[in-house]
Parts: sequence; structure tokens; C-alpha cells
Amino acid sequence: MCGIVGYTGSRQAGPILIEGLRRLEYRGYDSAGLAVQAGDGDLVVVKRPGKLQALEAALEEHGMPEGTCGIAHTRWATHGAPNEANAHPHASAGSDIALIHNGIIENASALRAKLTELGYAFRSETDTETVVHLIDEAFRDNPTLEDAVAAALLQVEGAYGLAVVSSRDPGKIVVARNGSPLLIGLGANGEFMAASDATAVIRHTRDVVYLDDGDYAVLSPEGYQTYHLERGSVRRTVHQVNWDLEALEKGGYPHFMLKEICEQPSTLADVVRGRLLEEDGNVRLGGLRAHEDTLAGVRRIVITACGTSWHAGLIGEYMLEELAGIPVEVEYASEFRYRQPVLEDGTLVLAISQSGETADTLAALREARSRGAPTMGIVNVVGSSIARETDFGIYLHAGPEIGVASTKAFTSQIVALALFTIYLGRRRRMSILEGRELVAALRALPGQVERVLELDGLLTELAAAYQDARNFLYLGRGYQFPVALEGALKLKEVSYIHAEGYPAAEMKHGPIALIDEDMPVVVLAPRDGVYAKVVSNIEEVKARNGRILAVVSDEAPELDGKVDHLVRVPHTHSALLPVLTVVPLQLLAYHAAVLRGCDVDQPRNLAKSVTVE
Ligand code: G6P
Repeated sequence: MCGIVGYTGSRQAGPILIEGLRRLEYRGYDSAGLAVQAGDGDLVVVKRPGKLQALEAALEEHGMPEGTCGIAHTRWATHGAPNEANAHPHASAGSDIALIHNGIIENASALRAKLTELGYAFRSETDTETVVHLIDEAFRDNPTLEDAVAAALLQVEGAYGLAVVSSRDPGKIVVARNGSPLLIGLGANGEFMAASDATAVIRHTRDVVYLDDGDYAVLSPEGYQTYHLERGSVRRTVHQVNWDLEALEKGGYPHFMLKEICEQPSTLADVVRGRLLEEDGNVRLGGLRAHEDTLAGVRRIVITACGTSWHAGLIGEYMLEELAGIPVEVEYASEFRYRQPVLEDGTLVLAISQSGETADTLAALREARSRGAPTMGIVNVVGSSIARETDFGIYLHAGPEIGVASTKAFTSQIVALALFTIYLGRRRRMSILEGRELVAALRALPGQVERVLELDGLLTELAAAYQDARNFLYLGRGYQFPVALEGALKLKEVSYIHAEGYPAAEMKHGPIALIDEDMPVVVLAPRDGVYAKVVSNIEEVKARNGRILAVVSDEAPELDGKVDHLVRVPHTHSALLPVLTVVPLQLLAYHAAVLRGCDVDQPRNLAKSVTVE
């Protein structure tokens, strides 16, 4: 949600900033802009509403501003419409300070009133502009940019990742973080970068320093220094990013979403790599090793997450209860954070997040911590806020997910939850034989997903047949109910066709009223414990002339003549079937979106990483 990139060094900043923005565009694409400092220190700001392309076209027309220090931003609008005035960077009245920001300044109205009284005129509707004027004001008593920024931030409440440049203290970028991600990239030969995530700097360096909340830092060709707003100078560890630039390219695919769907055989192999113990019917999870005692005492688990990760959490609930015998609740993080959750002794709070930066999930986690609960993360992005703030966890190792609609992260989350279920189950009621069965099933999953991907042609045809439908219903029971929710979410997100996921049997309490010959109904009917029940639900839809697309595992003779289309995936343990049944739904959504001319990787109004409430 909003992408930030900054560069200071000896090369021209402009092209490096634009390349960084291209990597970050998935975080928001309502407007884009940059500020470059010319050799004499003057700042040139160029910004345009719309996607990065619009900014690039403007730069093509008017020329790229020259200079070796600059900042750039891609926006997901919160305060104010996505127009040029509200686009970042925001500059001070004298055009001598430029600032970019990700997050929300919560006391913006109060600050705006105070600054207006001091004579500042506002040119945008954004909360961000208040911070520029605060810095301008703070320059009166503070000679350096870092001191002025720190003084300003002491008056700010809310969430921010920000970067500032100023002609009053040239060559420097000052960055700060509170609740929104920010890292520093350490290049060679006096080059330093700042970014909201590592994708923007990986081309230039793999050495990164993640700022903590309350930190700010100053970067210049002479070096960098990190500080904490209350504690003064602090040292932060240098981390190495361990994935390649290739992971950020489409690799011949027309869209990241399709690439990521097709990567699943390898991401599912990566999430179990080195973790399966076939003989013992058990798993080895390095991230949990030092916390055996805490985990032995867990009597209840509260899973908290948003969006697709919340759907994975629901599957985890079924698994952990059925196979490990532990009571589980799954909470939307946005709800959990404002309730009075009862977290008695023995309750573990498990946050699931691809990005590790989702603001609501992070806040829910902090709420749990403040109540003394042990916390765990299932996260993809190494070094992300949730990964760092949880007591322990399991990484997905799925590589960067760029398509806004989550696909490969979802299936890896299910597998990570299965690993955790085996871990806890084998220490409780799961037999070695059950453990071995699950471990063998996990080992076989990548090859099975490979076979599901061969259905791409069929799913393209189905997408073509139903692309004009106005509504879709997705039905599933048991482990397949969350898959129905996820299938419906995928379709809505990328193709803008309205879709609802429902527990198959619950349909008769309402949605059945919608069913007629124009209503495609996707029924998840693999051969699991509730198969016979789902067959009855299919009859109910058929009796109302609904058009049925059934996803089954292996043969399904019971459905002959009862459904319009059969999508057959291989069979596996019922807890892992969601991994196989969701892939056709991802492909269906993808192809429907492409056929309808939608922007698959950057659907309207969405952002990949939602770092505001
Ligand atoms: C956004 C994304 C979704 C994602 C959700 C949670 O809404 O568009 O794809 O599922 O955030 O993100 P997280 O990174 O916490 O899994």
C-alpha cells in the first residue's frame, strides 16, 4: 500500500527511482511521482495521477530531472482523490522540502488547523502534507534535515513510512518508520537506497537494514546512520535478501498472476523442503525449535488474518481441530483488534500474512502480545514486521508474490498449517501412521498440482463460456468451504464478477433464491468425508436449473448427468485437497479476467499490501 523508493549516490537518480517504482507498483497505482535534487540542491518534483506509465510519459515529454539524490512514490489513495494535487511527493511552500509517505497521519486535522494558524497554506487534501509543513517549521530550530524531521515526527500520531529530501541540506535522504514498512539498501561505492520493500532495491544490492517502529535514518553518499526518536543513535542489523531478480520478472508469462499460479509445484516443494520426516511421520520446523515448552502448553489457538490469508486460517482451523485435537477460532484481524478477546493461559495467537505487513493483522498481533499471549506467524516475506514481532513462526519461502490476487502464497499457507498440525498433532493424539500418511501426501502435492495445471485449456473454455455471467455462487463443505470463499474472492478481485462463497448446505437458507439458468454454481465436490452430502446439494441446485461446474477428485460417477461441467483433480488426504481444488478456481478467475479485459495484476481499487487500517 503505497510504494516508497529513494536513492542517493553518484549515479543519476531518476532512472533508478523509476525502475524501483515499477517494482513497487503492485503496492498501489492511483498516482506516481518523484522529486530529484539537482546539483545545485534545487528540487524538481514531477507527479501524475494514474499508473506509473502516466509519470513515465510526462518524463519522456519534459525530460528526466537530473541529479544524484531523489525520492519517488506510487500511491494507493487514502485521504483525497487520486489526482495530481494529492499525488506524492508533497513539497513545502518554498519548494525546498519534498516528502513521500505511506500510512495515515491520525492527528492530521488537528495539525492542519495548527499549521493554518501559523500561516501555512495547504495545496492538497492529504494527511501527508501536514508533515511537510511541520518539517518546514522545525527547520527554524534545527539546522539538519534529520533533526528537523525528528522534531516534526514528535508531533505526529499515526502510521508512516516516509522519505524526505531538502535543498536546505542537500544530498541527504531522511527516512522514518512507524507502522509502515521501510528498509535501507546498502549499495557499493557510497550508494544508499530506501524502499518500502526489498523488491525495489534488489537490482542494486542484497544488503538491507529494516527499520523498527520509531526509527529514523539519514542516508548520504558518505554513509548512513540509524536513530530512534526516543533513544537516539541505534544500531540495526544488516540482512541479506536471498531471492533473485528473476523472481520479480514475469519470465515469459503474460501476467504475474499466471506465473505465480504456475509456480505452485515448486513453491509447494519449497515450503516442505528439509521439513518432512517420512519415517517418523513427523516434521522438523526450525523456527519452532526453541519454543517447544510454550507449544507443549498450548490448549487453544486463535488464528488472525485478512483476505486470502484468513481463508487459509479457516482451513487451518479444520485441520488443527480434526487432526491435532486443539480448539481453534479464526478471527478477522480487523475485528479481533477492537474486541475484548479472551486470551486465557494456554492460548496461542497465530497471525497468517503473505506480506507480513498488513496493518490490521499487525495490530491484532500487538493486541495479543499486550495481553501476554504467545504469538506465532506464518509469513512469506522474511524480515517483515509480523515475522519480526511474533515470538516464533514458519516461513513460506514462496518467493515474492507480485500479482495483487494471492495465489501461490495461499497454497503454501495451507501446507505450512498442515506442517504445524503434524507438529502439534504428533505431540498429542496423531498416530505415527496418520503422520506418515500426511507426510507422504505433502511430498506428493507438487506433482499433483502439476497435473491440475494441465487443466488450463479446460478452464479457459469454461471462463469463456461464463465470462458474461453477472453472479457466481461457490459452494463447499468442510475443508472445501474456505475454498469456496477463496474461489469467489479470486473471481471478484480480478474479473469484477460478483461472486459469493457459501457452505453448500447453508445455501438453502437464502442464496438458493438466486439460482436460475443464468447462475453458474461452482461446487467443490472432491471425494472427502462430506462428498455424499455435497452430491445432495448439487441435486438441489440442479432442481432449480442452475448451471453446475463441479470440481471433483478422480472419478465421480454419482454426478453423471447431474452437472454441466466436471473439473477433475487428483485425490489426496482431505485436509490437503484444498490445495488441489483451489488451483482450477485460480485459473478460472484468471482467464475470466483476461477475457473481460481486466487488469489482472493490478485490479482496480486494490493493493497488495494493505498497510493502513
Ligand atoms: C490484500 C491483498 C490480498 C491479501 C490480503 C491480506 O487485501 O489484496 O490478496 O489476501 O491483503 O494480505 P497478507 O499480506 O496479510 O496476507
